[in-house]
Amino acid sequence: MKINIPRIITVSSGKGGVGKTNFVTNIALIFRSMQKRVLLMDADIGLSNIDIMFGIAPKYNIKHLISGEKSMADIIVKTSEGIDIIPASSGMRDLTQLGIEQKMKIIQALEDLNSDYDIFLIDTGAGISDNVTFFCSAAHDNIIIVTPEPTSIADAYALIKILYREHQEKNFRIVVNNTKNNKEARETFKKLSMVTERFLGITLDWLGALPYDEKIKYAIIEQKPYINLYPTSEFSRKLTEIAKQFLQKEVDLLKGGMQFFLKKALTT
Ligand SMILES: Nc1ncnc2c1ncn2[C@@H]1O[C@H](COP(=O)(O)OP(=O)(O)OP(=O)(O)O)[C@@H](O)[C@H]1O
Ligand SMILES: [Mg+2]
Repeated sequence: MKINIPRIITVSSGKGGVGKTNFVTNIALIFRSMQKRVLLMDADIGLSNIDIMFGIAPKYNIKHLISGEKSMADIIVKTSEGIDIIPASSGMRDLTQLGIEQKMKIIQALEDLNSDYDIFLIDTGAGISDNVTFFCSAAHDNIIIVTPEPTSIADAYALIKILYREHQEKNFRIVVNNTKNNKEARETFKKLSMVTERFLGITLDWLGALPYDEKIKYAIIEQKPYINLYPTSEFSRKLTEIAKQFLQKEVDLLKGGMQFFLKKALTT
């Protein structure tokens, strides 16, 4: 019997407000259109917003799973778009620092879902907290979103540094968001990769660039996924290209995953 192992993908950035949630929401829908079974986890645990992007109002969330009040099946929201979502809870300060027991509970609950999905897509939220590094170190792929702003480049570097030094992560796939043109995108990537190469000895993987697009705001105001409203825009075309390229990149599924995280957590 073949055991199904989902590909676990985190999307993080260090700096807040650079486009993570918009990216995960829309790439999840593209993966779905490629016949992938996607579980989207809002791991911005203290401050959720994937629900807003999908225009849903979940009754239960990760807080109820952690407290033991509800099971994973109870909290997962099945959207009409075919994406399943684990909602986060808004404004829960006590969840911004998960303890080891809480992390184990989440790991176990996610492992029980392995056979149901091809992809676990995790929006880690901003910052470089323990929660962010926890999910990143359990993932097969770490996607880092960066924008041309120097503060975004500096915070992306800070995140990569902590993931490398403290969690032995070496593979990072970079998406440059909010770009004016290709030149600006390439320059942003170059600035970030120059410092990771020089100070950490890490070569970054270029995934692609996404243009600044005013219409993204309107989609959020409408609470409808952007890609459904503007499927032929430049942003949508480029994101589809990123999704295709991403799936072509091979990963060893046995070298990631929750068990792998657990081993690392217990030995470091
Ligand atoms: N390519 C883009 N062009 C124009 N606006 C964008 C683009 N990407 C994201 N935005 C806008 O930037 C804002 C932040 O986006 P988003 O919420 O996805 O960021 P985030 O990284 O998830 O933020 P947080 O760290 O607070 O979770 C939103 O108002 C969104 O409309
Ligand atoms: Mg967000």
